[in-house]
Amino acid sequence: MISKRMADRINEQINKEMYSAFLYLAMSARMSEAGYKGVGHWLMLQYHEEMFHAMKFFNYLQDQGATVQLKQIAVPEFKETTVKDLFQHVLEHEKGVTKSIHEIMALAIEEKDYATQILDQWYIDEQIEEEKNATEILQSIELVGNTPQGIFLLNIELGKRKLGVPSNFTEMGGGE
Ligand SMILES: [Fe+2]
Ligand SMILES: [Fe+2]
Repeated sequence: MISKRMADRINEQINKEMYSAFLYLAMSARMSEAGYKGVGHWLMLQYHEEMFHAMKFFNYLQDQGATVQLKQIAVPEFKETTVKDLFQHVLEHEKGVTKSIHEIMALAIEEKDYATQILDQWYIDEQIEEEKNATEILQSIELVGNTPQGIFLLNIELGKRKLGVPSNFTEMGGGE
């Protein structure tokens, strides 16, 4: 069993993960519409990963006998139109999520909630990966000098990304 305060905080995080999913889905649409199909594909897989993050917390609340409370998801906000600016936004967004994941750990430590500490450790590791991925894409853009030819090649590279989470994770009970 977890505290009401912790359940509320995890419900809030489910909303943040779903917002991340919506943000990347909206970004995916824009990029594909602009002809960057590979970038759109990368962002579409990111949408699935974010839904996986949301569902992993969702299943955890249910396993703990806590109440899942879904909230309204905000309209995704982004103005960036270039690939470089877009990934800068992705990186900044992920840094914000990392802070939020760290707050959950701080609360779990304060409450001596060992189960949530163990769960949240997974997300802390995942955020290292998320920030690393966005940083490496930005580094690639720097290396190719942010030229149309370079972005064309990056678009092909990002189009090769494979889904890192099970596609049927909702039926699998959020297993890894
Ligand atoms: Fe996430
Ligand atoms: Fe993320």
